[in-house]
Amino acid sequence: MKTQLEINHLNHAFMMEDGKAVKIFQDLNFKVKKAEIVAVVGRSGSGKSTLFNLISGLLAPTAGEISLGKKPNGEEGSIAYMLQKDLLLPWRTILENAVLGIELQCNVVAADRERALSMLARYGLTEFAYAYPHALSGGMKQRVALTRTLLSDPSVVLLDEPFSALDYETRLMLENDVIQLTQTEGTSVILVTHDIDEAIAMSDRVIVLGGRPANITLEEQIILSVDGPRNAVTARGAPEFHQYHARIWDALRASDVAHAAVEGGSS
Ligand SMILES: Nc1ncnc2c1ncn2[C@@H]1O[C@H](COP(=O)(O)OP(=O)(O)OP(=O)(O)O)[C@@H](O)[C@H]1O
Ligand SMILES: [Mg+2]
Repeated sequence: MKTQLEINHLNHAFMMEDGKAVKIFQDLNFKVKKAEIVAVVGRSGSGKSTLFNLISGLLAPTAGEISLGKKPNGEEGSIAYMLQKDLLLPWRTILENAVLGIELQCNVVAADRERALSMLARYGLTEFAYAYPHALSGGMKQRVALTRTLLSDPSVVLLDEPFSALDYETRLMLENDVIQLTQTEGTSVILVTHDIDEAIAMSDRVIVLGGRPANITLEEQIILSVDGPRNAVTARGAPEFHQYHARIWDALRASDVAHAAVEGGSS
């Protein structure tokens, strides 16, 4: 299948005030295929958000290459990034916030606003379309941020803990929306989550990031036997679910232990 995003020999270091460089990534390599969902899990501070900042171009890597495949219509691929903190602009209404991603690329037309409104309606936010962000709860703001991310028709979507402030039912609904987006539009998704169940339920592949500099300590192709179509609910009932959970859990624990050893050794 076609590769949509390719990361080759990625290195990144942050310069500290004392002049020392802290290496976050050294020779990180991976690919994401078209319409694939890849979950990235790893302890806090392992470099997940930094990886997204590099892929989206907010940060320039110290070395290495990040390349994007073309869209099916031949246009250059594009990335939409939903930051870990929602970052709605307080002076714009919810609808104006939702169409911001499109506005940054081109002019917003009536059809875009209609699409935004119907997505907001789906997320129970119709009556807030002309309200300002301060009137919304954390979970509602996350839904607006997700609307904004998905509306710009990206070829690759980066979601940094997009569902953490949501109740379980809303979470399942949005998980399914993302799964569906990959199936209908061929969009590729990289999802950072601390929730192992969510990583397995949503993804084709789970990557565990660990160590300092961070690298891939485990890569699991997720194949689940479900009756009927796979979705966020049926996936969780698959017989293979617990086995994947145990393997990812072990890899996370192992990288925690390794990290503690490094920290302990350096103090
Ligand atoms: N701008 C920066 N300058 C210096 N160090 C940074 C900067 N941004 C991140 N770091 C460091 O890089 C490491 C990785 O941070 P990052 O935010 O990518 O972790 P994360 O995996 O997203 O963690 P979390 O799960 O808590 O969101 C951390 O040690 C962090 O302190
Ligand atoms: Mg982070």
